[in-house]
Amino acid sequence: MSRLQAEHLYKVFGRRPEDAVRKLEAGADRDELRADGTTAAVIDASIEVDEGQIFVVMGLSGSGKSTLLRMLNGLLEPTAGTVRFDGQDLTSLSDKELRKVRSEKISMVFQHFALFPHRSVLENAGYGLEVQGVPRAERERRAAEALALTGLEGWEKSWPDELSGGMQQRVGLARALATDADLLLMDESFSALDPLIRRDMQDQLLELQKSLKKTIVFITHDLNEAMRLGDRIAVMRDGRIVQIGSAEDILVRPANDYVASFIQDVDRSRVLTAGAVMSEVGTVLGTTAPDGRTLGTAAEFRAAAPATVGQDTPLAELFTPCSASTVPVAVTDDKGALVGAVPAERLLAVLGESAEPQPAPGVPAQPAVKTPAKAPVDETPGNDEPVEPGRNEPEDKVIAGA
Ligand SMILES: Nc1ncnc2c1ncn2[C@@H]1O[C@H](COP(=O)(O)OP(=O)(O)O)[C@@H](O)[C@H]1O
Ligand SMILES: [Mg+2]
Repeated sequence: MSRLQAEHLYKVFGRRPEDAVRKLEAGADRDELRADGTTAAVIDASIEVDEGQIFVVMGLSGSGKSTLLRMLNGLLEPTAGTVRFDGQDLTSLSDKELRKVRSEKISMVFQHFALFPHRSVLENAGYGLEVQGVPRAERERRAAEALALTGLEGWEKSWPDELSGGMQQRVGLARALATDADLLLMDESFSALDPLIRRDMQDQLLELQKSLKKTIVFITHDLNEAMRLGDRIAVMRDGRIVQIGSAEDILVRPANDYVASFIQDVDRSRVLTAGAVMSEVGTVLGTTAPDGRTLGTAAEFRAAAPATVGQDTPLAELFTPCSASTVPVAVTDDKGALVGAVPAERLLAVLGESAEPQPAPGVPAQPAVKTPAKAPVDETPGNDEPVEPGRNEPEDKVIAGA
């Protein structure tokens, strides 16, 4: 069951935004509206996020990711469309009700997580609870637990400036976890970190998510990060979502030329898994092994297979077994039951084929697509968050004063 649903969300900045939405509904694009002096930041975005899922929104800078995220927690009011969390329509709530939902159910982690310099790490981690009015003793207990989850046990009494950038970002994550909010919204949360620390944080988030099972929307402009973290990935371009799918869907079935060129430099052997490309076991049965035996049954196939791997095994690990035998590699599920086979031809075909765009179901066809000038690369970290006056969260204020 999906916990978060956004339907036909629009956000237009500038004069007469409702008129602009009507034009967009009629097929106008961003450039046409820009001539009128309005910015269509998000155009007709619909997403659904399940409990326990990491939903990644990926796109180049300016594609509308942050604006979309800010509508999900009500920081920005949509020009049109609805956002529901646990069935509750956030767009219909009063400011007061919204603040309550936001403080209890939703946590946000920004790119530059600004800590309060004159509060200890523990106090910083407990800040969200303080806003909720949780008494001190409970606040400190829960903040300490959250710090331990993010690997910061022992640092509770330190000051923020005694921590490295990566550790400060962990405090931000701990602050979000301490509130017990079920919905985590993460905007480029790891983008300002050095590559090694960043990978570490990604691992930590994946590990935490196994037990915490939050509903997470994670924004990034980094394709590899998206592929690593995302159970589902939405690719945004010029305010629109141009494709939603798993990493495999996007790599194997890009919805259009834009997505295809976006993904061309991804190392497919590390992103694609045995489970995603395997053939049915039936296709192997009846074939002949190198020693002349017929592989008549699933058991005979398993015995002759050069290796047995789990569904999550990246294709990179299948090269050696595939080159060792003409019998396909066996693929099993979590319980060890045989679920498929990867023949060497299939491996080579999947890795060799350059992804051709295919229309994906449920995604509107895009008008004549331009190819991005360059693949997304890490940008110089900077606080690129445009903020509507008067709707700042405490974090934003701290950033401004930091
Ligand atoms: N408060 C605002 N006022 C006017 N334009 C804005 C505002 N916030 C964002 N935009 C514009 O909307 C577009 C999408 O911005 P944003 O959502 O920040 O993209 P991303 O997070 O993908 O970099 C950009 O063209 C940006 O300049
Ligand atoms: Mg942004």
